[in-house]
Amino acid sequence: MPDNIILIGFMGSGKTTMGIRLSYRLRQTFLDTDRLIEKEENRSITDIFAADGEEYFRKKETEMLEQLLKETSGQVISVGGGTPLREKNRELLHKLGKVIYLKVSPETVYERLKGDNTRPLLQGENPMEKIKALLQERNGIYEETADVIICGDGKDCQQILDEMMEVCK
Ligand code: S3P
Repeated sequence: MPDNIILIGFMGSGKTTMGIRLSYRLRQTFLDTDRLIEKEENRSITDIFAADGEEYFRKKETEMLEQLLKETSGQVISVGGGTPLREKNRELLHKLGKVIYLKVSPETVYERLKGDNTRPLLQGENPMEKIKALLQERNGIYEETADVIICGDGKDCQQILDEMMEVCK
C-alpha cells in the first residue's frame, strides 16, 4: 500500500507551497499533478481547458492518479482543487496514501489569487462570488475525503508545517 501524503484543497489554499516545504522536511520527493499533466500534455492548464474543456482535464486527472498509484510511494503529492470531485478520484486518493485537506476561507483564497490568470474556473466577472459558490459546493467533499483537516487561515507556513509534521508521525 503506497504511503504517500496527499494534499487536497481549494485553489490558492497553499497545497503547492506547503507540499514543497513538507517534502523538504520529510526528505521526500514532491509531485504536483497539475504540473505533471501540463508536462505530459506539453501545454498549460489554461490551454487544456480552452482547447478541450474541463471534462477532458478531469479525465487526465484520473489517469494521472492511476499512474501515480502504480509508480509512487513515500512522496508528497499535491493535487488540483477539483480532483476530489470525482468519486473514482476519491477512491484513488485514499489508495495513494494519507489525505490532508488544507482548509481556507473564501477571503484567504481571494487575497492570494486576485490578479491570477492561471485558474480558468475563476476568470471573468466577480471572482469572489465564484470562489464562494465553488467552495460551498466543494467543502463537504473535501472534508469527507480527508483523513485529516488542517486549517490554514491566519497561520504562517511554519505553523501549518508543524501541524502537518504531527500528522505525518
Ligand atoms: C482546479 C484547480 C487547479 C487546476 C485547474 C482546476 C479546480 O489546481 O487543477 O485549474 O477545479 O479547482 P490548483 O488547486 O492547484 O490551483
